[in-house]
Amino acid sequence: MRTPIIAGNWKMFKTVSEAEAFFAEVKGKAERPGVESVICAPFTNLPALVKAAAGTTIAIGAQNMHFEDSGAFTGEISGPMLKELGVKYVILGHSERRAYFAETDEIVNKKVHAAFKHGLTPIICVGEKLEEREAGKTKDVCKTQTEAALKGLTAEQAAQAVIAYEPIWAIGTGKSSTADDAEDVIAYIRGVVRGLFGEAADKIRIQYGGSVKPDNIREFLSRPNIDGALVGGASLEPASYIKLIEGAV
Ligand code: G3H
Repeated sequence: MRTPIIAGNWKMFKTVSEAEAFFAEVKGKAERPGVESVICAPFTNLPALVKAAAGTTIAIGAQNMHFEDSGAFTGEISGPMLKELGVKYVILGHSERRAYFAETDEIVNKKVHAAFKHGLTPIICVGEKLEEREAGKTKDVCKTQTEAALKGLTAEQAAQAVIAYEPIWAIGTGKSSTADDAEDVIAYIRGVVRGLFGEAADKIRIQYGGSVKPDNIREFLSRPNIDGALVGGASLEPASYIKLIEGAV
């Protein structure tokens, strides 16, 4: 009932010409009925990718945005700017943004509201640090981050949002969570959404992220609450990205 969503997060990789070459390789291949394929690229690549993706089923996403529509915020990009380009998704609250750019739960919540205001679908990242996991606080951390990010939304908006559960210790480390552990935490997060918004919890899509590869994606997606993956490293090579989409069907 929920369409799986595989989103590549390119982080700070690829120039425009590299992005165009990537897209030419995956066009028609990283597209499968029954799975949504999304590429979240650096801002500079977005116009070229939106143009290249016209007529395909691949959606293009950004990796961040400011919560204000415009203003004296040097170096920032706003929701209206992304919307006019034809961007559909925006990753918000990625752990790298929280860690290196001081994004708080409150800022993430403002960005989530701004995304909906401008017709963008947020992919909201939550997840625990290694020390929090070891202290048995995984679910508490995910609850706090999820409740804060979704605060003030309508149930209809919550149903449209995407959450990415990304245990920070699994990002770029080659150490993925087990599918059973990820399912356990994601089922818990869905319960948190249910507590806030009732039946919207059956519609919201919750991805797993953290060292997802072509050879483990099928295992994650076989679990009933895992609705896709947010993939960093393994989304950068066309052949690997195509396999991720194939593995999600
Ligand atoms: O947004 C994606 C995540 O940070 C996962 O990155 O697949 O390289 O571990 P990774």
